[in-house]
Amino acid sequence: MKKKTYFIQTYGCQMNEHDSEKISWLLENMKYIKADNKEKSDLIIYNTCLVRENAELKVYGQLGALKNLKRKNPKLIIAVCGCMMQTEKARNVILSKYKHVDIIFGTNNIHKLPQLINRYKQTGKTVVDIEEENQEIVENIESNRKYSFKAFVDIMYGCNNFCTYCIVPYTRGREKSRDPKDIIDEIKKLAQAGYKEITLLGQNVNSYGKTLNYSYTFAQLLKDINKIKGIERIRFMTSHPKDLSDELIEVMAELDKVCEQLHLPVQSGSNRILKSMNRKYTREDYLQLINKIKKAIPNISISTDIIVGFPGETEEDFNETLDFVKQIKYDSAFTFLYSTRKGTIAAKMENQVPDTVKHERFQRLLDTLYPIFYEENLKYLNKTVEVLVEEVSKNNEDVLTGRTRTGKLIHFKGDENLIGKMVNVKIKTAKSFTLEGYII
Ligand code: 5AD
Ligand code: SF4
Repeated sequence: MKKKTYFIQTYGCQMNEHDSEKISWLLENMKYIKADNKEKSDLIIYNTCLVRENAELKVYGQLGALKNLKRKNPKLIIAVCGCMMQTEKARNVILSKYKHVDIIFGTNNIHKLPQLINRYKQTGKTVVDIEEENQEIVENIESNRKYSFKAFVDIMYGCNNFCTYCIVPYTRGREKSRDPKDIIDEIKKLAQAGYKEITLLGQNVNSYGKTLNYSYTFAQLLKDINKIKGIERIRFMTSHPKDLSDELIEVMAELDKVCEQLHLPVQSGSNRILKSMNRKYTREDYLQLINKIKKAIPNISISTDIIVGFPGETEEDFNETLDFVKQIKYDSAFTFLYSTRKGTIAAKMENQVPDTVKHERFQRLLDTLYPIFYEENLKYLNKTVEVLVEEVSKNNEDVLTGRTRTGKLIHFKGDENLIGKMVNVKIKTAKSFTLEGYII
């Protein structure tokens, strides 16, 4: 009998990407095999994101286009999951306007997918299964990981911070830490399978451990992971500046496997806006933190997230953000146009910034950031860096790409069989987003 095939389209953050790796594992256990494209598959899953409006609109656009596919192949199963489905409003839109969707599930019940598929097959009726809160962490799902040498590992779920612009606390629920033993067992297994690099994932990893019923911090978790034989690099994201402790900075400096890289979202350089965002730190606090970190780990690379056009952002506030990024000298940054998310506090704020102003500021922010990235990359010229080789470049099959411990993307010539190995590369060219060199 011909094997059934599946296709997963993922939107949003690394946590969603990792959830899709879990979904893929569940489906392959059901004997589904991965299809190259939607057109050829028997099951299509959209793993959705709600953080910004454009991600949401893309999903509706894509779902609309699937109507035809379903008409041609009525046996096709279409499922939608992820953060969008955690809101009643989005579920109702799907149920009323996208009737060709067969299964709706959420972020807290991924493990039930096989059951939901069977229920749909038996009844032929739309299946909706959502758990509002992450009651218990389900530990028996593995992942079909994209790479065989680097892996995402969840350490906590949810967020308690309620930044006023952000929908995540409403979709992913309250913060919950995984048991350290489960995390360590998972990483030991990964190490035995040959994985060299792991990225620990959570909305706010610095507050890891708070929901355990004994005292255990993120810094302690790093110490325990650092002992695992075979693992060579440890990364983590995301850190919240208000929770980044001195203990953590010390441990980052001391542990050999923890990479010299920190993603520390600042969001804005204006104290007035930071307060209105409920970020609970000032630009002075943030700067002090960066100074401490750079002192402890001089070659660390720092990246950030910045939102442009938060309600009430004046030209003066925005200029403070521009000033701030020049002062910090970020290695890279994710920049976002503020997007109104219904249900958040900021959505109800007055003085929403007009789109034209947001776009104009956004461009000015990029024009400020790119030369800074370039300047930071110039520091790598003629240096030799350790690179974990990741893949063949999409634009040139003679060229490989990989990353340094500091997270820099490196291009160099080499043979495909180096993928998954560590090599030393001497840097000869610097650009804003990549460095080029040759293996030595
Ligand atoms: N509009 C724009 N950007 C947002 N982010 C979160 N919510 C919004 C929003 N409503 C950004 C923040 C966060 C990143 C993951 O997404 O910068 O750090
Ligand atoms: Fe959203 Fe703030 Fe939580 Fe990050 S820390 S997920 S921005 S509420």
